[in-house]
Amino acid sequence: MIEVESLSLAYGRGRREIMTLDDISFSVEEGELVSLVGPSGCGKSTLLFALDGLIKPTTGHIRIDGEEVHGIRRDVALILQDAGLLPWKTVRDNAELGLRIQGLKDDATQTLATLGLEGFESRYPGELSEGMKRRVGIARALALHPRVLLMDEPMANLDSLTREKIQNLMLKQWKERGFTGVLVTHDIEEAVLLGQRVLVFSPRPAVLSEVLANPEAGMAEYRGSEKFSERVRYLRDKLQEEEE
Ligand SMILES: Nc1ncnc2c1ncn2[C@@H]1O[C@H](COP(=O)(O)OP(=O)(O)O)[C@@H](O)[C@H]1O
Ligand SMILES: [Mg+2]
Repeated sequence: MIEVESLSLAYGRGRREIMTLDDISFSVEEGELVSLVGPSGCGKSTLLFALDGLIKPTTGHIRIDGEEVHGIRRDVALILQDAGLLPWKTVRDNAELGLRIQGLKDDATQTLATLGLEGFESRYPGELSEGMKRRVGIARALALHPRVLLMDEPMANLDSLTREKIQNLMLKQWKERGFTGVLVTHDIEEAVLLGQRVLVFSPRPAVLSEVLANPEAGMAEYRGSEKFSERVRYLRDKLQEEEE
């Protein structure tokens, strides 16, 4: 379980201070997947970095399973925006980077195979399609068998077919592995498709302006349902209103 309590985060100090998150509180239940949407630059990546223990809150608390987060934890993994692959490393080495950083001896063979990357282990990122690169980024995180998975726009800037494929793959992994997830996305349909709740951030400094219950997320046929379209429309109006 993730608990965020009165979290504020500013970069820099004094006149240079950039306030990103302003008194944010929410929690994510064990095994729940929530989506987080908000305008560009409001602080979504910042929040994920803080949840991953990479940056310290200015004020407030982040707890995972009741323990205050101080630095990176073995059971928490982050999928970086644009996959964050190192071009001079092979698919295997990229996928095993998290394991090596954490000093673990495991390999990513099985995880690469479940993501359809078997046979590509010795290729380099430059030789892969964009969708495959994203899958390597996902493999890097899943190879750690995290209990908490933080995802920073893992499907952004993909063509719609590839995006749909990776969305389905992500859902399947969530159902099979049962991790607790936070998915940042600027795609409203994706947020509603995948998140059992959708958290909406305002423009910077971000406050949590809405929490939309969406219990049907992940169910078969949801994408084509009236309820799905209704919620997408509702959130689209809400975000447009805030931009004005
Ligand atoms: N290291 C940093 N130093 C100073 N400002 C930063 C830094 N990283 C991000 N920012 C600023 O903080 C704000 C939030 O950034 P970010 O969390 O990346 O937003 P989002 O992911 O929602 O697009 C932006 O205005 C950005 O320019
Ligand atoms: Mg971002």
